[in-house]
Amino acid sequence: MSVSTEILHIRVDDREAHPSVTPIYQCSAFSADSAFFYSRKANPNVTELEQVVAALEGSEYALAYSTGMSAIYMVLELLKPGGSLVINKYIYGCSYKLFQRYTARIGAKLTILDLTTESGLKELPLNVDMVIFETPTNPFLKDIDIHAVSKAVKQNNPHALVVVDNTWATPIFQKPLNFGADISLYSATKYFSGHSDVMGGLVLVNNEMIYTRLLEGRFYSGSILAPNSAWLLRRSMQTFNLRMEKHSNTTSSMLNYLRELPFIEHVYYPRVDGKQLTGYGGIVFVDIRPDLVPFYKTFTSALKWFGTGTGMACVTSMVAQPFSGSHASMTEQEKADMGIEKSLVRLCFGLETLEDLKEDLLQAFVAMENMANQKSALKPA
Ligand SMILES: Cc1ncc(COP(=O)(O)O)c(C=O)c1O
Repeated sequence: MSVSTEILHIRVDDREAHPSVTPIYQCSAFSADSAFFYSRKANPNVTELEQVVAALEGSEYALAYSTGMSAIYMVLELLKPGGSLVINKYIYGCSYKLFQRYTARIGAKLTILDLTTESGLKELPLNVDMVIFETPTNPFLKDIDIHAVSKAVKQNNPHALVVVDNTWATPIFQKPLNFGADISLYSATKYFSGHSDVMGGLVLVNNEMIYTRLLEGRFYSGSILAPNSAWLLRRSMQTFNLRMEKHSNTTSSMLNYLRELPFIEHVYYPRVDGKQLTGYGGIVFVDIRPDLVPFYKTFTSALKWFGTGTGMACVTSMVAQPFSGSHASMTEQEKADMGIEKSLVRLCFGLETLEDLKEDLLQAFVAMENMANQKSALKPA
């Protein structure tokens, strides 16, 4: 036997190791007698994460995907060619684009309704096959009554699927399946991870047939979460509750402060009814005064504790402009139809001390206003 053959087969038998946490199963395949078979189908780290999230959501089944968008994409695969998809008018920009592209490609009909209103609900097509919405919505944090939508949809077509993107509410504060949704899904990249260091998506269902179809779709598409990412997400789940509590407390203490700042015209915060939505995390929107809008860059550059960019719902605070960020892929007209203007700013409060965040916002708003005053003083009368 050569040493080159020998080193290929050296393994530490870990049966007596009893690790305090599950190690990363960084392997593509398992031996023929293993229940896991192949990491494109299942992997112990992915399964453990799925069990944790299913327990939190109170669902029968969970499936983990490589990103939030891949989770949405794989749910869309349940829509039949020529079918009818309804989406809510206020929705994440990339989801909006995906729904447009996907339905056009498979010859399905896309209907955009305002499901936050009763009249919007009355316009549901009779042949509806799938309805997808976020509540609270991104942007504007408008709420949708999941039970009312589910009832209306099932009246038109008992087999239609009601899908809730629950990313912003999280299972800590809202459990869509309890209110008649068939599918609850997440971008785990946000609050689940909480540390801006991993991407992932989760889909939760109670129905075995839907689960089996999704499982097959995931296996054949290869969209499953990687073991390493699953391990990081599972670790993040240990502090999920605590982080959400802190995000929530900071945001509620921040609301009145923001409302009284003279630089802000409106603060958007969701309706926490105590039934469907029992609490809320750390993301709000504000409309800044129109005269300050050209100086948004001065504001973000002056901020010390708020990062810029697409990240959010993490331990550090973030600021973003949906117009040029989360909804940038939409046309100017589409953004206008959704009511997204450059004055709309998203603030995500992290785990920093409340007073530090208040001070930071104030000095950055003052810097922005000073810049606006300087520029207007320079203008010819
Ligand atoms: C509500 C919502 N759903 C889905 C996604 C997509 O998730 P990911 O970026 O993990 O693909 C996002 C991303 O911002 C989001 O805000």
